[in-house]
Parts: sequence; structure tokens; C-alpha cells
Amino acid sequence: KAGLLYYGAATDSPGQRERANLQSTYPQYDAILSDPLEFGQTTPTNGMKWLFTEPLPNVFNFTEGDIVADLAASQQKLLRCHALVWHNQLAPWVESTVWTPPTLRAAITRHITAVATHYKGRCRAWDVVNEALDEDGSYRPSLFYTVLGEDYIKLAFNLTAQIDPAAKLYYNDYGIERPASVKTAGAKRIVKMLKDAGIKIDGVGMQAHLHADVHPTAQDHVDTMQSYLALGVDEVAFTELDVRITEPVNETKLEWQAEAYTNVATACARVKGCVGITLWDFYDPFSWIPVTFPGEGAGLLWFDDFKKHPAHDAVVETFKAI
Ligand code: G3I
Repeated sequence: KAGLLYYGAATDSPGQRERANLQSTYPQYDAILSDPLEFGQTTPTNGMKWLFTEPLPNVFNFTEGDIVADLAASQQKLLRCHALVWHNQLAPWVESTVWTPPTLRAAITRHITAVATHYKGRCRAWDVVNEALDEDGSYRPSLFYTVLGEDYIKLAFNLTAQIDPAAKLYYNDYGIERPASVKTAGAKRIVKMLKDAGIKIDGVGMQAHLHADVHPTAQDHVDTMQSYLALGVDEVAFTELDVRITEPVNETKLEWQAEAYTNVATACARVKGCVGITLWDFYDPFSWIPVTFPGEGAGLLWFDDFKKHPAHDAVVETFKAI
């Protein structure tokens, strides 16, 4: 309802699964991903990042990103493209180069030009800049910020707007789902900075990696979204939703998880301007969570044995009720 366009799940390319020491083929996984009753949108979790798209200076490789872009096209799913400028998963050469402002501007320009041109017309949205904010809401001292200050954000949005004018351009971050968080304030400063400079930004992506300490109510989500929309962006989206649990999993925790998921669905459906929800994959074994937070997991909607979490049906019921 309202402005809700899609409900989807991000996915990785099978080669990535192999590299992470998992099998590459999972027929049950593919059946769920391709089921139009489950998901109408996808995002590549890795393949469009700098590490994969420009592994060596001016050497571009779209193999990994194309796998997911092609899958989206063949399954008639909307595609969110992720991410043009991010401090993480950079190619090693980017990290080891000693940059000056002009050389870094040139490298960002070359990178965005090549990647956004390659995917032009295929991305409903681009995460143009990802995670520019530190935990306290100030700018993260990434190499981009250290060399260029906030100009790198302006450069990235300006360029992407020129190259793919039809794509919705997003600032995307985690920890920006609650109205009073310092990072939410930081995200609003970024939107305002771009708007004041007359630079196109269409949306704010709330990653929504939720957990026991951060699980906003539906009203919190609504208030946060309204605060972004009030700055003049056309849309907001939940871009990387998962709700991690401290092992062992039990019924109480799964109920709490279902509530956290339904709060997102309820809020998005209530706010005109919330265009969609993307899960950050949907199958627990493929989640980034246990790798990054040992002892935590089960953040998605299908368990290892492909049984559904209670949150799956809770989300379905929420969508049916609106
Ligand atoms: O390619 C290596 C392989 O050589 C190695 O053997 C294997 C060992 O685990 O790791 C493989 O690479 C991993 C890669 O995922 C592919 O599976 C990396 O170590 C691992 O760090 C990487 O994690 C990704 C992470 O971003 C990196 O920060 C996750 O898959 C991906 O889901 C995650 O996504 C991010 C979003 O882009 C931005 N927001 C946060 C979100 C979660 O961290």
C-alpha cells in the first residue's frame, strides 16, 4: 500500500559462496529466490563493489555483478545496485595508493563512470555512497573523507546523476533507523548538504541490521522515515534488513524477531514514500551475521534446513492485513 513498490531479498553470486567454503548450488534456495510470490526485488550483496568491479586500476570486471543483474532481469525483479563508494571491500590497490585530492577525484570519477555506465538503465536505485558516517554520527575517517572531505559525497552523487539520470540515488547506512540516533542526525546532515548544493539525492536507505539492542517500534520507524522525507527526498527504503539473535535460538527470541520484522513492514506500508524492503539474503547460512558476530545468527527468514522462521509468516500476515 501507500508507496510500497517491492519486497525483496539480496543475494550473492554462487562463486562467492564457493569462496566462503559453501557449496555453489542450492536448488531449494534458487526455488525460493525465484518465486515471484516471495520476492519481487534483489540486490547483489557483493558483486558490484569496488573490489570486484575494479580489482586493478582501470581494469573493470562485471562478472559477479552481472550474475545478479541478469538474474533480476530474467526473474523480472527490480534491481537495487550496491554500492559505488564505500570504504569497505575496496580493491587493495585503492587502499595502498597514496592519494592527493586530484588523483582521488580522478579515480572516483573513473570508477563511477565505468560502473554506472555499465549498469545504466538496469538499476532502479543506486547506493551511491554507503556508510559515510561513524558511530557518533560524524564523518567516518575513510580514505575518501580524509583526502577529499565531504566533497567526495558531492562528486559521487553529481556524477551518478549525470551518468544514469533514471536511477534513484541513495545515501545508505546502518544505525539510521531510529529517530533520535546520532547517526540518523548525520544522515539528515548529508541529505541537507546535497540538497543545499543543488545536487540530486532521491532517497535514504536504512540498512536495518536490527538486533536485541536496536529494534525500533513501528512508530519509531515511521518517525524516522518522515524526518528524511521532510528534507525533500522522494523516497526511503529498508535496504538490508535482518534481525540477528544471540544463540541459542528459542521460541521467545523468534517471537521477538517476528515483531521486529513486522514493525518494519507495518511502518513501510504506512508511509507514503517508503518504496520497499530488502532482506540481506533470506537463508541463514548465507548471512554475514555469524561471520561478523560469532555467537549470533538466525537473522533471516529461512533456517539452515529451509524451514521458515515465524517472522516469515508474520510478515506475510502483515502485508495481507494492509
Ligand atoms: O572471497 C573470500 C574468500 O577468499 C575467503 O576464503 C572467504 C572466507 O570467509 O571470504 C571470502 O570473502 C568474503 C565475502 O563476503 C564473500 O563471501 C569476505 O571475507 C567477507 O568479508 C564478505 O562479507 C561481506 C561484507 O559485506 C563485507 O563487509 C558480506 O558477504 C556482505 O553481505 C556484507 O554486506 C554489507 C553491505 O555491503 C553494507 N552494509 C553492511 C553489510 C553487512 O556487513
